[in-house]
Amino acid sequence: MVSLGGCQKSPEVPGPDALRWAESARPRSALLAQKYERSCQSCHSSRASTAPLVAFAPDWQARLQQGMPALVNHARDGFKGMPARGYCNDCSDQELEALIAFMSTPLTQE
Ligand code: HEC
Repeated sequence: MVSLGGCQKSPEVPGPDALRWAESARPRSALLAQKYERSCQSCHSSRASTAPLVAFAPDWQARLQQGMPALVNHARDGFKGMPARGYCNDCSDQELEALIAFMSTPLTQE
């Protein structure tokens, strides 16, 4: 018997739906969407970067366990490959928090 279950060993790899969603998703607020598009999006919306993928739960689970204040601190001050403020110099901490909430909210499957 040949096992075809090999792919299931890597739950961390986003499928085509998750990748399409990550590319097209935007925050609801127009202002936030604008800031997202000119900063966070370039790294967080595709696998071209090692940044946690927008709305892809496996990328965010462990990070969310640090709690939102830690995530906001990391986004503001920079964290490994994550540049300070994600190049969004006019993003307030509250806006960073809203952007993080948006990016880390999983795609809802019906
Ligand atoms: C130049 C690329 C780049 C941009 C632009 C960028 N990020 Fe990131 N971000 C990264 C990378 C890479 C990581 C993963 C760092 C690691 O854990 O190695 C990351 C990680 C994060 C994390 C997780 C930090 C943690 O504690 O695990 C948050 C939150 C985050 N980014 C928020 C944002 C927000 C909000 C924006 C837009 C304002 C943004 N990023 C823009 C590259 C980027």
